[in-house]
Amino acid sequence: MKTRIKAIIALFLSIQMIVGCSALPLTDLSGDLYVDSDNSTISDDVIVVGVSQLGSESVWRTANTASVQNALSQENGYFAIMNNARQKQENQIKAIRSFISQRVDYIVVAPLLEEGWENTLQEAKDAGIPVILMDRNVSADSSYYTTSVGTDKWAEGENAAKCLESILKKRGLYNREINIVVLEGTHGSSAQLGRTMGFDSIARTHDNWKILERVDAEFTTIKGKEVMKDFLGKYDKVDVVISQNDDMTFGAIEAINEAGYKAGIENDDIIVISFDACHEALELVEKGIIAAEIECNPEQGELISEIIQMLEAGEKVEKEYKVEELVFTKENVSEYIDTRSY
Ligand code: AHR
Repeated sequence: MKTRIKAIIALFLSIQMIVGCSALPLTDLSGDLYVDSDNSTISDDVIVVGVSQLGSESVWRTANTASVQNALSQENGYFAIMNNARQKQENQIKAIRSFISQRVDYIVVAPLLEEGWENTLQEAKDAGIPVILMDRNVSADSSYYTTSVGTDKWAEGENAAKCLESILKKRGLYNREINIVVLEGTHGSSAQLGRTMGFDSIARTHDNWKILERVDAEFTTIKGKEVMKDFLGKYDKVDVVISQNDDMTFGAIEAINEAGYKAGIENDDIIVISFDACHEALELVEKGIIAAEIECNPEQGELISEIIQMLEAGEKVEKEYKVEELVFTKENVSEYIDTRSY
């Protein structure tokens, strides 16, 4: 561990012991800064990791933050400096620059948007600090970072379209005109871009699938409800809702109910297909309200820790790691609900 950060941690821990609280701001970064610490001894072997989380917009994001915090714990030999960028790329850039000036050993970043990372990643590279991308991708060339851990957002989008194909087949609607609305996540994020392109790659092979409109509902429940309400007011017939995360889906279902329609899997119900597969959403699949859940796995912390250990041992790592994901419908969901912790 570099001397400066070690001194800062020692200072932090002594302040913490005096005031007796468990989380104090370590720097003047905007956003929450959580310092994982309940132990006053620091050994030279501690690995310091600056983690720039993009926000706390969804149930998924909370689970992703918990996963990385649990894996990069003091018990596991880490000191994690967590920063919440609150959906602002400039906060992420500020946090990463602060991690660089504190000379952390590694930087983990969940990039809000795909574009705009070259300069900051170059600064980390120049400082010799390995960067691990978490969850989302960047458009910058892969030489700008050490490795990435995440999910295949394109495949998730394709899976949503394949689910829709099989639902329509089952309902005898395969060749009918189908009106689709799309609640998209944060525009310019790799989650929105990948899911949209993956879905569209199959949608464009169906002349009868009519995409009425797509709107950025920011991955939040409040926006999901607002946008869905607007769609239902504007269009006489909505057959399908593709919602790029569960939080927006919860809002959309509220709007559907309030407008006197029904989301479900019976004939004439609005077909809702959602991404993430958090516990509450899986329950709605079991109840036959959400037609299909495309999993996006937030549990990426363990893999990040394994990669750091490989780098510590001087081993070569891959440029890209993907976590496993499933698709849930009423047919298979019950065997997974009980074990879903988020
Ligand atoms: O990047 C992953 C997406 O971001 C998840 O689907 C969503 O819930 C989150 O906010």
